[in-house]
Amino acid sequence: MNFEHVYEKGSSPITVLALHGTGGNEHDLVPMTKMVAPNASVLSPRGKISENGSLRFFRRLAEGVFDIEDLRFRAHELADFVIEASKEYSFDSSKVYALGFSNGANIASSLLFLRPEILAGGAILRGMVPLDIDKGELEKLPDLTGKKVFLANGTRDPMVRIENAKKLATMYKNAGATVTHELNPASHGLIQSDLQAMKHWFAAL
Ligand code: MLT
Repeated sequence: MNFEHVYEKGSSPITVLALHGTGGNEHDLVPMTKMVAPNASVLSPRGKISENGSLRFFRRLAEGVFDIEDLRFRAHELADFVIEASKEYSFDSSKVYALGFSNGANIASSLLFLRPEILAGGAILRGMVPLDIDKGELEKLPDLTGKKVFLANGTRDPMVRIENAKKLATMYKNAGATVTHELNPASHGLIQSDLQAMKHWFAAL
């Protein structure tokens, strides 16, 4: 298949598409996924972009400044990979939830905005607005009715301003998704309460 990846089959019908942050790889989020969604299958691809040796899911021009053309291309490429993997591993393609951290959160949101049919929802950890509708980077909001989205941001995150995190939550709400927004007094790294809240969210799916 088109992406180096890890796939581990679980006992529940849910598949978690685990998407690592900049500098990570396909193994990074597997233990965390198993902790928060113990029975789910895990599909964890490796980002294809190397930024001075650090792997990512799409190019950026500077920190927080994305190469929108590449982001779109990579979102579609990843969506096609998920379809291919669902056939290869025979998992239910209607029960795939993303779990993305940082750069992985941003490609997960891009999937939800550009190819909503691929995901039933997702946990978006330390994500920001990837495609700004006000700047014309996204033509229109998709219909995300019935999708469940868990957002976790840190109020002291130097990489994601809180206004930007709230704007992302509003985009999801305006698109019709059911949104849980966990805001903790944390920086860019995850803390225990993010994990606990995410675990509850997965358990209720
Ligand atoms: C991104 O490039 O997606 C964000 O700046 C987060 C990160 O540093 O990966």
